[in-house]
Amino acid sequence: MSEALPSVLSVTGLNKAYNVPVLKRFDFELRKGEVHAVVGSNGAGKSTFAKILTGITSRDSGEILFRGSPFNPSNKQEASATGINMVLQELNVIPTLSVGENLFLHALPHRKGIIARKQLFRQSKQALSRLGLDELDPDQPASTLGVGQQQLVEIAGTLAQNSAILILDEPTAALTGPEIERLFENIQRLREEGVAMIYISHRMDEIFRIADRVTVLRDGRRIDTHDTQSVTLDQLVHEMAGDELAERHPHLGVQPRGAGLTVKNLTAKPAVQNVSFTAQKGEILGIAGLIGSGRTETLRAIFGADPKQSGNIFMGEEKAPLTLSCPTDAVNAGIGLIPEDRKQDGLLLSKSVSVNTSLSTLERFSKSGLISPREEIDATVATADRLELKRDSVEQPVDELSGGNQQKVVIGRWLLHDSPVLLFDEPTRGIDVAAKETIYKVLDQLATEGKTLVVVSSDLLELMSISHRILVISAGKVAGEFTPDSWSQEAITAAAFSEYLSNPKIAR
Ligand SMILES: Nc1ncnc2c1ncn2[C@@H]1O[C@H](COP(=O)(O)OP(=O)(O)OP(=O)(O)O)[C@@H](O)[C@H]1O
Ligand SMILES: [Mg+2]
Repeated sequence: MSEALPSVLSVTGLNKAYNVPVLKRFDFELRKGEVHAVVGSNGAGKSTFAKILTGITSRDSGEILFRGSPFNPSNKQEASATGINMVLQELNVIPTLSVGENLFLHALPHRKGIIARKQLFRQSKQALSRLGLDELDPDQPASTLGVGQQQLVEIAGTLAQNSAILILDEPTAALTGPEIERLFENIQRLREEGVAMIYISHRMDEIFRIADRVTVLRDGRRIDTHDTQSVTLDQLVHEMAGDELAERHPHLGVQPRGAGLTVKNLTAKPAVQNVSFTAQKGEILGIAGLIGSGRTETLRAIFGADPKQSGNIFMGEEKAPLTLSCPTDAVNAGIGLIPEDRKQDGLLLSKSVSVNTSLSTLERFSKSGLISPREEIDATVATADRLELKRDSVEQPVDELSGGNQQKVVIGRWLLHDSPVLLFDEPTRGIDVAAKETIYKVLDQLATEGKTLVVVSSDLLELMSISHRILVISAGKVAGEFTPDSWSQEAITAAAFSEYLSNPKIAR
């Protein structure tokens, strides 16, 4: 079908090096009205390619033709003026601006230099509605949004621009089922309008659903380009991973070893309503739910990162509740939180891998107040190796790592810290197919060691493959509990919607 479509973008011999070569004689062709997926392991060079096309990064050499003419954008605005727009992998919502201002930041409607508020409101409503965000108020500050909603606002803003080429870098990493469906409807509509799209994702099921063609990138080189219809998942995974294919993780059964973490009647308004559960030592307790259902907020309230109105947290078999008024209290009590938004909560981007990894363990490496750099580095290297972190050295600043590798640094910090209770929020967000298996293996090891793990994930199949038990949160309440013999995707999804259906007034 796509054979007859004209080419809009043609890339030949693209080279780019940072400290080492990242793109190596990369060739790529994009046709009008096609969805062209780019897949590859963490650090393969996908985001770098997208950033070159949108003028965010410069190339070293190579030719890019846009509609037959040389294209050399020197910044994002220039690329955008030509019709090439992108949803970045990292979140870029500006928290101090309103939702509407974020949506139309680059084209704020104005009259004589003054923002035309009414028009902005109208345009924003329309843009939000396309993604089913009718309840969002364009005037509310963006800081009030969760990561999933921020991602949707960014997508909505980019969709509202007039694009000839639209690049989506991991757009669904923070989205759940219904939101992904809405995005796909929009992609379908844009494709029919003739927009060409580059779609970067680690979720292979998405690639097979919406991409016409797929290009595999490995270590900066193009391995192959396929019609999606004529390639198999196995083939893609092999081309991406080369010989380093991870084994699929064997799932170990859990032997209950007593309570590891008990949460009783936890309420943290408005998102968390009277949540109670016990996670066993050695158990991986999955938490499912829609975006905005209160999953993240539950973890944050347990960790002392958000204030709670009522409820108690107990460690192990202890009868006395913990007094947790801030994250430091939680860390001291033996609780770790691996947050979903590494940029806001997780990482000091300009600092090294080593500093970021040892951040919450510094006392272990210090003797009489002085940090022993050798020990710190040895421990960081061991942790980085355990997670197969792709880096030049552990002295490299974290902002030079690819998106997926940044996520591994956040996880590494808590591995090193060795807390008995670990709360994971979307641990495999943005992590490639092979590296996910590494993370699953690490989760299994931690459980086998007797640690208590609570894992929030938007990927239901993932949750079903790693959890011993799944708790479903709907509108801030526990709406179901499933064990492997009782769970199915349908049953869990129904539970995730249940509180919204029984009380339609609750705004998402
Ligand atoms: N600013 C930078 N300075 C130095 N190295 C960088 C910089 N940005 C990226 N790199 C390196 O370039 C390589 C490719 O990174 P890129 O972000 O393109 O990977 P990716 O394919 O998008 O991976 P992911 O799936 O993890 O997002 C990585 O090894 C990364 O460490
Ligand atoms: Mg990337």
